[in-house]
Order: sequence, then structure tokens, then C-alpha cells
Amino acid sequence: METSKLRNKFIFFIVFAGVITLLLILFSFVEGFIKDYLTNFFDSTDRRTVETAAVLFDQLFRVLKIVLWMSLIVTIVRFVNHLVFSTALRRSSSYEISTLLRNVFSIIIYIVSFFVIFNSQYPNIDLAALFTTSTILGVIIGLALQDTLGNLFSGLAIQADQPFQIGDVISIPTKGEGVVEQVSWRGVQIRTFQNKLIVISNSVLGKEVVEVAPRENLNARLVFFNTLYTNSPAQTIQSVREVVRQIENVSQKIRPVVRVRTLGDNGIEYEIKYWLEDYSKYNDTDALVRQRIWYAFQRERIEFAYPTRTVYQVETKPPENVFVETSNEIYERLSNVPIFAPLSDEETRKLADGSHLRVFAPGESIVRQGQKGDSMFVVHRGTVDVQITEADAEAKVLRKLREGDFFGEMGLLTGEPRTATVLTDGEAEILEINNLCLKPILEENPELVKSLSRIIEERRASFDKPEDESMPTEIKDKASIFASIKKFFGLTD
Ligand code: CMP
Repeated sequence: METSKLRNKFIFFIVFAGVITLLLILFSFVEGFIKDYLTNFFDSTDRRTVETAAVLFDQLFRVLKIVLWMSLIVTIVRFVNHLVFSTALRRSSSYEISTLLRNVFSIIIYIVSFFVIFNSQYPNIDLAALFTTSTILGVIIGLALQDTLGNLFSGLAIQADQPFQIGDVISIPTKGEGVVEQVSWRGVQIRTFQNKLIVISNSVLGKEVVEVAPRENLNARLVFFNTLYTNSPAQTIQSVREVVRQIENVSQKIRPVVRVRTLGDNGIEYEIKYWLEDYSKYNDTDALVRQRIWYAFQRERIEFAYPTRTVYQVETKPPENVFVETSNEIYERLSNVPIFAPLSDEETRKLADGSHLRVFAPGESIVRQGQKGDSMFVVHRGTVDVQITEADAEAKVLRKLREGDFFGEMGLLTGEPRTATVLTDGEAEILEINNLCLKPILEENPELVKSLSRIIEERRASFDKPEDESMPTEIKDKASIFASIKKFFGLTD
């Protein structure tokens, strides 16, 4: 594509340059011919007419020659520009600089060539002196070029300083914010987050305070939220930090900071500081941070603070919540999980009372591979993906679990790190059962321990398949799983 374009340009250049050279050669012949014609075909009485005509033709040819020579120079400069800057430097980082430089070089070459060509045609006229001595001309040109030269010099200053590059996000208080798309000798073009283009001249830009978020830099964002005074700051900070860390585009290199900003009128006010991989997507990432906080708050029973300074009595009834945890609903769900079938009604009720219904955002992880955990989970609403990642490999979905399926039993029952990451496929409600609630039930039901260890064996066997090389942790002897669960929970035979 690029080569065929270059070839076309090259052919055009050769043809155009050839035509102009031919015209220039032709002109010298035609010029001589016309001079001879004028002298030979008019007698001496017409000498004045001959002289006037000769002078007119002479001027016409000189002007035409200047035009043709300038056209040739413009074509050559453009072609060389294309060859050197656009093609050779396109992939290098200095491409942005070259746009400005090539414009400056072209202008200098045009001016110098014009002086030389003009001088060859009119050796008696000193163009330089004309420019330097003629005050009126100077003033006219000065005024006409005031803005252009202002832009050019501001552009050169910007290029020398290099405060920003193509791809950086810049914010100019009075003009707007966006990603830099072009830097030229006249101005800078930025694309706003509404996909509009803003073109700002360099001279205007030079007078503004520009905030730059360089593309190669880890730029931070601040997001604010607040909670009721009844919620513990330590718990809030921990759960918010945990969910923010897992969000796509949040840099893993620096841990997000969550801190109390002020103790406000309506509640405790917090700020989150997090660093972005790609700053140009900060709107989406901020939104995701706020969304994940809502879900974390639902799970952890943390409440956002509402403005409560009012002359009316504030109703303290908690707001209507679509995810209200009802013990009956949990009981219903658990009694339909096949693995818990051997449990008596009373035991299932106990299990339900000790479980918590948690809501998760689409794509949010519930357990993460390699982390320790002391809960197991039952899918109450929605679906989840069991995903494993090997070093340097893409995450791979092992299984999809639906309503009534359980997971997290391996980590809970053996005390080992989680063997996989389980994340939601769309919004999901998950029942969390922790080990304190499960232990007395396991003690009373050796059958349950057996069937759980059978399932763990089966699930581990899926890592073991020869074609499946994705075995994240060391696999224990299958027969020992039952014993290891009993040992971990301190169960007797
Ligand atoms: P745990 O290791 O605690 O955390 C990740 C969970 O993913 C794991 O427990 C299992 O519940 C689940 N898991 C792992 N492998 C499979 C599999 N092959 N099929 C279904 N679930 C699995």
C-alpha cells in the first residue's frame, strides 16, 4: 500500500519535472525565435513598436520562467519531504517533530530559491535591499505575517520544550480536554472525549496553562465517595481498595490508596487515588470504580451517606433494596443443592442462617487464583466462569457454573490457595458459606465430607488430563483429600 503510493508519487514527480524542464528548454528557443521574428519582419519605421513588443515579451518570459522554476522547486521539495519525513520517519518517535521541521525547511528553501531565481532573471533589482529598506513594505508584510510568524515561533518553542507528544491527554482550562492528534507549525489539534476536534493555534496555546498527562506516565485519578458514620473506616478502606485493584486499566504497579478525606456533615468522606494504564480512558475507569464500590457496599453491608440535615424528621428505615437477604430464599436455594441433600432440615436452616447473599458486578472476580480463602460459594442468580491462568499464558475458562452450582470448596476444605479464579458473567448473586458455619455440619455428616472430597477429586482430575497442561498448584494424592479435609477441620473418625 505504502510502496504503491510512493511509486505513484515518484512517477508523478518525474512526469511533472520533465514537463517543466521541457517547457523551460522550449522557452529559450521560442524567446530567440520571437526576437528574430520581431527584428526581421518589421522595417525601420516600426522600430518603436518592435522595441515595445520586445520589452513586453521579455518581461512575460522572465515572469513565466520564475513561475516555472518555482513550480519545479516546489515539486522537488514536496517529493523529498514525502520521501524523507513521511516514509522514513513515520514509524520513528521523531515523526511529530518532523511535521513542524519539514514545514520550516520547506519555507526556508522556497524563500531562498525565490531570491536566487528572481535574481537570475532581474540581476539589477536587489530584492533583499527592497525588503530591508522599504519601510512600508516591511510594515505591510510584518502586519500580514504577524499571526503566522507568532504561530511559527510558538510552535518552534513548543517543539523545543516538547511539553507533550501525540497521544498525550492535555487539558486547557478555557478550551477543553482531549488527546493530542497533531502538532504543526500553526497549531495543535486535540480530539475531545466527545470525539470532537479542537484546533488551537500555537500562539494561543503558548499563553495558556496546559495540564499534560503523558502517555508513557502512570497518571493518577481521584474518585470520592462517602459512608455513614456507623460503618468502620478500616473495613470500608480494605474492601474498596480490593475491588479497585481488580478493575481493568487500573495499574497493578502501584496499589490504589483509599483514605478518609474529611469527617463531613453527612458522613465520612473518602478519596480513592488510583493509577491508570491508559489515561485517555479515565472516564470509563472512574465509572467502573464507582460501580464496583456500590457492589462492594452491597456485599459488605456498608451504606452510602445521604444528606440528613433537614428540618423534617429523617426516616431511619433502610432504603428498599432489591438484594434484600431473606433467610427463606437462602434456605430454598441450599435445599436444592444436591451436595447438601443428606443434611436434615434443621442443618440446612443453620447453614442458611450462617450464609450471606452477596451481589457481584459483571466481570468481577469472586475468588482469585493463588489467594487463600475460608469460604465456599453457591451460585444463587446468574452464571460464573471458572478460569485458570498459567504463568505468561492467557486466562482460560475451565467451566461455567450456573444457579445451584457451588465453588470455592477446594480452598475452604483443604486450606490451600484457590486453584482458579471465579468471575461473574453478568451481574450475579452468590451465597457465601464460611468455615465457621460449615465445621459443625461437617462434624455431624461424614457423608458430606466424602461427597465433597469426591467432587474435589473430580475437579482436580480435570487439571490432570494429558491435553490440559493447566495445572496451577501441585496436585495431591487423590486418596489423601478426604484425610486432609478431616485434618484441616480437626474432624475425628
Ligand atoms: P478453590 O480452589 O477454593 O477456588 C477456585 C474454585 O474453582 C475451586 O475451589 C473450585 O470450586 C472451582 N474449580 C476449579 N476447577 C474446577 C473444575 N474443573 N470444574 C468446576 N469447578 C472448578
